[in-house]
Amino acid sequence: MKKLIIPTLLLLLNLLMAQAQEVMVSEARFCKGDDPAYQKAGFDDSSWQVLSLEKDWVQQGVRNPDSYAWYRIHVVIPSSLKKGSTDLVLLDLGPIDDTDETWLNGHFVGKSGSNPDDPEGYVSKWNTPRRYLVDPKTVRWDKENVIAVRVYNGGDPGGFFERPVRIGKPAVNDFVSLSLTGEKDACRLVLKAAVKTSGIVEMKVTNPLTAESGLAQMRPVRLSPKQETVLSWPVEEQQLVSVTYRDEKYGGVLSASYAAPYILTPPAPVTPRYNGPLVFGVRPGSPIIFRLAFSGERPMKYAVEGLPDGVSLDPSKGVLSGSVAEKGDYPLVLVATNAHGEARQAFTLKVGDKIALTPPMGWNSWNCWGLSVSQEKVMSSAAALINRGLADYGYSYINVDDAWEAEERAADGSIVCNEKFPDMKGLGDWLHANGLKLGIYSSPGDRTCGGYLGTLGHEQQDAETWNAWGVDYLKYDWCGYSKVFNAQADRSTAAYVRPYLKMQEYLRQQPRDIFYSLCQYGMANVWTWGHAVDANSWRTTGDITDTWQSLYNIGFERQTKLYPYAGPGHWNDPDMLVVGKVGWSDHLRDSRLTPDEQYTHITLWSLLAANMLIGCDIAQIDDFTFNLLCNNEVNAVNQDILGIQAHRDSDQDGIQIWSRPLADGCIAIGIFNLNEDPVPVNLTEALARMHLIAPPTVRDLWRQEDIPATTYVIPSHGVRFIKLCPCL
Ligand code: GLA
Repeated sequence: MKKLIIPTLLLLLNLLMAQAQEVMVSEARFCKGDDPAYQKAGFDDSSWQVLSLEKDWVQQGVRNPDSYAWYRIHVVIPSSLKKGSTDLVLLDLGPIDDTDETWLNGHFVGKSGSNPDDPEGYVSKWNTPRRYLVDPKTVRWDKENVIAVRVYNGGDPGGFFERPVRIGKPAVNDFVSLSLTGEKDACRLVLKAAVKTSGIVEMKVTNPLTAESGLAQMRPVRLSPKQETVLSWPVEEQQLVSVTYRDEKYGGVLSASYAAPYILTPPAPVTPRYNGPLVFGVRPGSPIIFRLAFSGERPMKYAVEGLPDGVSLDPSKGVLSGSVAEKGDYPLVLVATNAHGEARQAFTLKVGDKIALTPPMGWNSWNCWGLSVSQEKVMSSAAALINRGLADYGYSYINVDDAWEAEERAADGSIVCNEKFPDMKGLGDWLHANGLKLGIYSSPGDRTCGGYLGTLGHEQQDAETWNAWGVDYLKYDWCGYSKVFNAQADRSTAAYVRPYLKMQEYLRQQPRDIFYSLCQYGMANVWTWGHAVDANSWRTTGDITDTWQSLYNIGFERQTKLYPYAGPGHWNDPDMLVVGKVGWSDHLRDSRLTPDEQYTHITLWSLLAANMLIGCDIAQIDDFTFNLLCNNEVNAVNQDILGIQAHRDSDQDGIQIWSRPLADGCIAIGIFNLNEDPVPVNLTEALARMHLIAPPTVRDLWRQEDIPATTYVIPSHGVRFIKLCPCL
């Protein structure tokens, strides 16, 4: 009997293999270390250990931080994969922590990320699924093949971690790429194919205020590996263009949409206009670094009336410096003059225990450059902050995020910069001379999130070093501290507070004001104790990214109960802005948020009294992004001196209304449409939901005009941001 069963099973297996559309492999041979011989098909790996491809190597008892290791996957690839598809074979390896180079039977297939010894330096791609197409000539059909994968792992864990490797037929998005981008008044579709194929492109244009579609087009296209196919259509402001490509030869559909930006902020007048905060807090004796934020035609001359002793003004740059020993409120008048006129602004310099009396405004390197940040890139955004006029709207912090740290501390234990930051002190000096401030990043753990050196055990020394460099802002990121935390049994709030309290002590010993930004993603309800460690802000959530889902979860869902905890000197931080060109790497792209989602983002952050840290490359800022970041009436809500964070007053049928009272007796109100379709909203009725009686007109903050309290269509994921002044 047995004799019959086995051959029958084998036959069945072969039949199944002959039909198979894909093969899955969940184990591989594994070896730490590095040797080019491992890529060869015939290499004998029989002595290597076997690891699962569905769990990282730490979970399987392997420690191998900051090093190379190899996987060799043995797999029979059935010839059935050749049928009914392109010739190409897909190696779907899933994500790999952190970089990989892959060979099939000794033939190089592809690479993701970049290794520390590569010319461009280390770039992790831990979260990127690898989908490599291979030439069918390199496949051994119906025989054993070897996929050799060289992995570099920065920090821990490491390697394959998510799912089995799949060898199959490519999907349409593997052999055709479609990109849809906007250019001035047009929208441009680029199709590129890895094989010869053909299909149909369909395009339609939708009006976001009526949801009506017009101008539908259909075009057959022939694609060949050597040429790009480019189609373009005229597009008007705010229109939504949707495109699909249907592959006729191999099947599958690709789609993309593009919403044309539209600018609401009126251009600034040529006359001087003050756009900055109305107060500035500094501790007695601490250096004052403050740049007067006036827009208007240059050249401009500045003056300040009422300056206390010890403070001086650079009249051509408009930069205040010096210090004041005596606590107190110093009323000043800020004056700016140009060829077209003069502007005067009452202002209070508050010398006391509190700093950050309004939320910090500035830039941080993370959302654009990620770990590829360098001093040159930071300088380029800093210079653009001034040259492109963003400093005229109160943006003043230039914050270097992770990846500035050298691999090792100096012999005396002090932290040093890596070769990408040749002169951090010089950077600080330049910023201060221009009235801007320097921010830095570290972790209370031994490692940062990016795997760089952390501060653990060097708290005092690091605080002193940062003071010597002129650091004005510290983002202190939990990350590597989880190792210390996990090694102890204590899960009390005190255990979460401890590392932050420790650093606070040393920061306060420095003879300068250092904004203290806690980054621990909201653990242990940080908003309830952040002020007790003297924090000026605390991250309330995990990392933001440039998708509506992320914006919705972080901005709307996670903030509803946090308004009681914000106030002058200490702010809830829902993470940095994701408008403009972002990318968390050397490869920047336009934010994937639609223009309406970006208006929603900035409106919400203004209402939430959130840190306004620009996450894009300022040197590449376009007019639309400038319009988002530099609307003085919108920013005035964020910087309002009462510092009261908005409350969600109404949530009905996907329309959310958030409001905050302002120091001038008015109320700022955001009416958000979270639906997938445009919705007409009557302002009088919306205000009635908040028990408010609408005056005949309200202020539209984005458009900077008074509008009747009638009905307006709010586009999908868009907003009307208004100011209501009942008593005026
Ligand atoms: C964490 C933080 C990010 C950024 C990175 C740097 O993910 O939340 O904002 O600082 O670390 O590695």
